[in-house]
Amino acid sequence: MSEYISIGGVRIARTAALAPMAGVADRAYRMMCKRFGAAYVVSEMVSAKGICYSDRKTSSLCTVTDEERPMGVQLFGSEPEFMAKAVEIVLRYEPDIIDINMGCPVPKVVGTGAGSRLMQNVDLAASVTEAAVKAAGATPVTVKIRSGWDQLCLNAAEMAKKLEASGAAAITIHGRTRDMFYSGKADRGVISDVRKAVNIPVIGNGDVCSGEDCLEMYGETGCDLVMVGRGSYGNPFIFREIECAVEGAKYTPPTAEEKMKVMLEHVRLILSLSAKSEELAMHEARKYAAWYMSGGYGAAKLRGRCYSLTSYAQAEELAKEFVSLRNSAERHKYEFGQNAQ
Ligand SMILES: Cc1cc2nc3c(=O)[nH]c(=O)nc-3n(C[C@H](O)[C@H](O)[C@H](O)COP(=O)(O)O)c2cc1C
Repeated sequence: MSEYISIGGVRIARTAALAPMAGVADRAYRMMCKRFGAAYVVSEMVSAKGICYSDRKTSSLCTVTDEERPMGVQLFGSEPEFMAKAVEIVLRYEPDIIDINMGCPVPKVVGTGAGSRLMQNVDLAASVTEAAVKAAGATPVTVKIRSGWDQLCLNAAEMAKKLEASGAAAITIHGRTRDMFYSGKADRGVISDVRKAVNIPVIGNGDVCSGEDCLEMYGETGCDLVMVGRGSYGNPFIFREIECAVEGAKYTPPTAEEKMKVMLEHVRLILSLSAKSEELAMHEARKYAAWYMSGGYGAAKLRGRCYSLTSYAQAEELAKEFVSLRNSAERHKYEFGQNAQ
């Protein structure tokens, strides 16, 4: 297996990328995943039309820092003219890649003809891509799709071919249909079909939650890169785990202490990047803190308490409690055996 892939000249390590996730994979999240080895990250989706009307919040979503590179900025939209103009604006932020979202299942997005609705309108999808490619110049444009709209419209391979002909530099494929949203199991067969249909790199996505899952995704689909979404919740370590799996090295999962150290680092990063007061920024940090508190006796209760955090000092206290709970559970297991309750 080669160590790198190239997307329109952008070199990316062949380990795993972090998926774009609106409301989750913000700059702090991406930076944490990068620190643990994410090979490539993508911004939260940004409305092409919104950016054209110079929505300030939208622009802030496009900011790319050197620590995050290589990084893609993702746009959604269904009007070629707005897409072209949005690409021109986004280029000011110097992203390594511009990605177009043609997979979002959310009614608000689909209702505008964008996201996965474009899977039902392949010609318009091609026009949107062509407009973006033309406006992007030397910056590669990639497209993220699903396996289709529903079981009656499983057209990912056909769509990928058309997008390749429109100038797309790579295709990311999430192996679910739109009507599945995030339920059921991602279909690796469709990822393999897309891989066979095009000559550009294919990024396989869906349900990769461990190093083993990642190797299976590479092995079963022949994809060029794997992309991880929810498997990174409270678990930026997954990128280290995947690196080890790809290199055939032994992976040592984080101890409770390391988990909490990283959780606190993540919370500090959120606080430092936020313009809000500590209390308000802690509201944003709550869910991220809770995600780190998984596994073991008593964790659910601590997770629940994360949702009322109002200060960093409280997060430190919870982290201490988590560590002592885990350590006493370990001692209990050691003294009374694996099956002890
Ligand atoms: C909370 C959340 C937000 C998401 N936002 C986006 C988005 O902005 N753009 C996009 O292309 N996909 C988005 N997705 C889909 C993910 O990128 C990914 O395709 C999906 O979660 C499947 O991968 P996974 O099984 O590894 O999570 C989102 C998914 C989740 C759970």
